[in-house]
Amino acid sequence: MKKKILVMPGDGIGPEITREAVKVLEQAAQKFSLDFELVDGELGGAAIDKHGVPLADTTLALAREVDAILLGAVGGPKWDTLDPAIRPERGLLKLRSELGLFGNLRPALLYPQLAEASSLKPEVVSGLDILIVRELTGGIYFGTPRDTVILDNGERMAYDTLPYKESEIRRIAKVGFDMARLRNKKVCSVDKANVLASSRLWREVVNEVAKDYPDVELSHMYVDNAAMQLVMAPKQFDVIVTENMFGDILSDQASMLTGSIGMLPSASLDSNNKGMYEPSHGSAPDIAGQNLANPLATILSVSMMLRYTFNQLAAADAIEQAVSDVLDQGLRTGDIFSEGMRKVGTVEMGDAVVAALAKL
Ligand code: NAD
Ligand code: IPM
Ligand code: MN
Repeated sequence: MKKKILVMPGDGIGPEITREAVKVLEQAAQKFSLDFELVDGELGGAAIDKHGVPLADTTLALAREVDAILLGAVGGPKWDTLDPAIRPERGLLKLRSELGLFGNLRPALLYPQLAEASSLKPEVVSGLDILIVRELTGGIYFGTPRDTVILDNGERMAYDTLPYKESEIRRIAKVGFDMARLRNKKVCSVDKANVLASSRLWREVVNEVAKDYPDVELSHMYVDNAAMQLVMAPKQFDVIVTENMFGDILSDQASMLTGSIGMLPSASLDSNNKGMYEPSHGSAPDIAGQNLANPLATILSVSMMLRYTFNQLAAADAIEQAVSDVLDQGLRTGDIFSEGMRKVGTVEMGDAVVAALAKL
């Protein structure tokens, strides 16, 4: 049956990297005889420019109807001064929330060819393969009340709220344990239970869920220590499960272990594995429109889409192999460049992955 994919390039480098990822998706579809219909939609700044809002109702309706979504990235200086309620990022958050995409998988995997590109010593990162499971629809990102108020003395004060229901913790913990079962059977739950009430509940519920997974080893770590451990000895981790904001921060940090944030894909899944797939990085306004962006995180997000939503494991594996082959050929965008390699642009990198995929 024909599957429908909504493609939302977004802003900044979004259109450039999405174009390359779509080329790879089309090549994979041809090679593995998969039938996809691609439809376009706007999100973020692109949607503000066209519809006046970062996520139009028609686009949301389309997003509900399709089988999967491929997203570039949203945001940029052009829209940074808008009312927070209609900023580009709000469109993305609304989409995650409305579609119930609570399970965010962010794998940080070091391709051996990129050991030199990491800012850490090769021996610290070689063989690195960790999965950050980030809760994506709860916590401080969505908690209310949140406001900016003027106090009696005229001083401005702003506050946010960090709520977690046990059902929200339980379902993301299960994702973490299920993923660990497919990997090295270790879960590290990251929280701030020495300070935050929400983290104390988090830890309690994760411990309860762990009882159903006696084959998986569970540890707990405070987020500040986890940040330190991630750069000191990252290979100690297998699956990290954590709340929304900690996961946002730790996944950017983990990306540098792999050479660049331009290498880190992500999947945001609901309870039926319907998903939105996007690189973990942003719209990189500083390099937008210059054919400099690394498209591999988005291309690898297509691989995750084929794996998790469409269960096309051979096609997903083939894309990962094609990326590895291109790295073997010595092709590098600027962010992963090292001595002796051949510097290429966004388009050339995408073309090379398509060619490598065709050859497999
Ligand atoms: P960013 O991830 O866009 O960029 C951080 C740095 O990484 C920049 O130096 C950028 O050039 C570099 N970089 C990012 N992706 C790259 C790639 N594919 N290839 C090479 N270099 C890359 O983060 P930022 O600068 O903090 O945010 C810029 C905008 O993106 C903001 O508006 C922010 O809100 C938005 N953002 C969106 C998403 C998303 O859509 N999921 C994620 C993060 C940030
Ligand atoms: C990400 C981004 C988003 C987040 C922003 C753009 C809302 O940083 O996908 O990691 O904080 O979740
Ligand atoms: Mn982020």
